[in-house]
Amino acid sequence: MKVVIVGTGYVGLVTGACLAEVGTEVVCADVDAAKIARLQNGILPIYEPGLQEIVMRNQQGARLSFTTDLAAALPKAEVVFIAVGTPPGEDGSADLKYVLQVASQIGQLMDHYLVVVTKSTVPVGTAARVNRAIKESLVARRLILDYDVASNPEFLKEGAAVNDFLKPDRIVVGVNTMRARQTLEQLYRPFLLNGHPILFMDIASAEMTKYAANAMLATRISYMNDIANLCGLAGADINQVRKGIGSDPRIGKHFLYPGIGYGGSCFPKDVKALIQTGREYGYQLRILDAVEAVNEDQKRLLFQKVLRHFDGDIRDKKFAVWGLSFKPNTDDMREAPSLVLINSLLSAGAIVSVYDPVAMEEALNYLGSNVTFADNMYSAAEDAAAVLLVTEWNTFRMPDWARLQGLMQSPLLFDGRNIYDDVQLVKQGFTYYGIGNAAATTVNVLVQ
Ligand code: UDX
Repeated sequence: MKVVIVGTGYVGLVTGACLAEVGTEVVCADVDAAKIARLQNGILPIYEPGLQEIVMRNQQGARLSFTTDLAAALPKAEVVFIAVGTPPGEDGSADLKYVLQVASQIGQLMDHYLVVVTKSTVPVGTAARVNRAIKESLVARRLILDYDVASNPEFLKEGAAVNDFLKPDRIVVGVNTMRARQTLEQLYRPFLLNGHPILFMDIASAEMTKYAANAMLATRISYMNDIANLCGLAGADINQVRKGIGSDPRIGKHFLYPGIGYGGSCFPKDVKALIQTGREYGYQLRILDAVEAVNEDQKRLLFQKVLRHFDGDIRDKKFAVWGLSFKPNTDDMREAPSLVLINSLLSAGAIVSVYDPVAMEEALNYLGSNVTFADNMYSAAEDAAAVLLVTEWNTFRMPDWARLQGLMQSPLLFDGRNIYDDVQLVKQGFTYYGIGNAAATTVNVLVQ
């Protein structure tokens, strides 16, 4: 089977590479000529474990190719995925400009039956708009052609995208014809071998499933952050509470980690977009309003703790920030909580030195020359008044504490991800602040 994927961002590139990996002929199309030229030379626009190898292998095997020429890519294709960006508009709703442009273009260029699939995260009702855009183009060409639209949202996690795509928990497909269903079933058959289910449903439900899933996961995080803040105030330890509640299978132990707020390209955008969809239907999603508000406060929590520790004066003090990307195993800086923290520190007159094992180049675009980019985690901490752990990369998990103590002005640690053993650190002479654990610290702050 041949498929065309329009858009070589995170979702498009991973989808293309992984479909090629199981033997599908894939052409990835994008309007960004520079990006396509780099991809043709094996240079990827993103860091994602395992992706480089898959792209290279399938390019060499002639199953995967990259082009700016959609017209040349379409002949003989059976499926076209639309995987272009849906940036948030001013009101938080997903901007469908690019999705609909691609749909019109497909209508202008197609000459045989196609299943046109929206893969980008798009609000309920988008497939119907894609359908209209294709139809309008065909009408303008005075052409009657059979085609189907479908919705196939992507659930992959950054940093684990290849694995998530190759071994999906489930594949959700919204269709309204048997022909589209059979085509997509055939396309995904190689992924279903180990019992991973494919769930067919109507198109609107598939579109809604993606938002409902992300919004529920975001809700879990804000809920845990809220409870963690209360634990800190009330003398309880969120780490123990987390284990206590996570062993109830109805709750489950995954995705219960408090921290400095969720970031990335999905949760912040999708929660906002779903709230906006609610508004369009005259329905206020009150829980999600709260999820967002908690997250905004949580991104400022570490800074508030720092300020409180230094009685409000951090001018000219140096702070080491460990980790910049919104989570480990990615260089993605979109909506990264580290940016909120660093900008707050800088505004208060502090000096900031940062280290991240992968995201420094990407972070340069966001932070410029306002911070020092250190060679390693220890040089970042030289003469620092405190170390602030922001992203839980494995590199940061077991530092040489004695070495660190020798380098810093004073042994002070703010652990934004609760990855360190607070009791042991305090024994070692560190002052330790975590999220929602009163045990080792004297001060806990609640941000209002
Ligand atoms: C998410 C969804 O998991 C994925 O299914 C969807 O397709 C896209 O959005 P991603 O944004 O890559 O994926 O990251 P994820 O691992 O889900 O983490 C999102 C954010 O939540 C990160 O900022 C992370 O640090 C935070 N998080 C996650 C927590 O604070 N606590 C947790 O327990 C888990």
